[in-house]
Amino acid sequence: MEGKMEGKKVTVHDLMVKKKAGKKITMLTAYDFAMASFIDQVGMDMILVGDSVGMVVLGYDSTVPVTMEEMIHHCKAVRRGVRQAFLVGDMPFMSYNVSREEAIRNAGRFLKEAGCDAVKLEGGLEVVETVKVIVQAGIPVMAHIGLTPQTVGKLGGFRVQGKDLVSAQNLLDSALALEEAGTCSIVMECIPDKLAGLISRSLKIPTIGIGAGPECDGQVLVTNDLLGLFEKFTPKFVKQYIKLFPMIKEALEAYKCEVESGSFPDQGHSFIMEEKDLNRLKIRKKG
Ligand code: KIV
Repeated sequence: MEGKMEGKKVTVHDLMVKKKAGKKITMLTAYDFAMASFIDQVGMDMILVGDSVGMVVLGYDSTVPVTMEEMIHHCKAVRRGVRQAFLVGDMPFMSYNVSREEAIRNAGRFLKEAGCDAVKLEGGLEVVETVKVIVQAGIPVMAHIGLTPQTVGKLGGFRVQGKDLVSAQNLLDSALALEEAGTCSIVMECIPDKLAGLISRSLKIPTIGIGAGPECDGQVLVTNDLLGLFEKFTPKFVKQYIKLFPMIKEALEAYKCEVESGSFPDQGHSFIMEEKDLNRLKIRKKG
């Protein structure tokens, strides 16, 4: 049971208890039923249907084009594979930025249509009022500060955030204001480890780091990165626990080769019928 919560659905309360007890919270992304089932079965505390789906599954160059319909579609598939983990759906770019009403309506869809337990949205002080109204509507919200991929253009590219005093103070202020607004947890992406530690210790709610060092209350990675399934680029903070891409490529090449040579399918992968019945078949052509 150490580090896992087996047998019952993980709740916001469980995550707070883990933080208080100094136990690390585990989180990974999933985009489909099969991977969600695997991740849930190993007892991961949280699963995020990240808008990273746009890059690692749908082939977009960034997360910006991802739509609400795409997110709901993938969240529904993941929901069917998850029994215990706390399931978070990522609100895509422009689904919470236009108006508060639209933000509440879209956040609600993740719970009503896709069965998520919470939504995640990116931003610091500028999204505090939006977070407040979504939380007031009864929807748990996870915030995401630091490197926020949806607004990477504004940040000047994929780079570490909060390295100087002014931007570090802004991140600390944002985290405190987001907690005050009612967020249940905060993802901190690509910020210095000691800053992440200070923010984590300053909050009652759990922080989940990605590229934010070991002092966060929990960690998240994009599963496709961890499994070596995404080849385009690998950020410094990603640890590849296996390199599946070359293994998959090898298997696919072997299949192609065997089909072309006729060695697949062999007897072991075929079905048989009695020779005498086969011989009695008549080739009946119409006309
Ligand atoms: O979309 C995503 O996968 C994320 C994680 C990187 C936290 O936001």
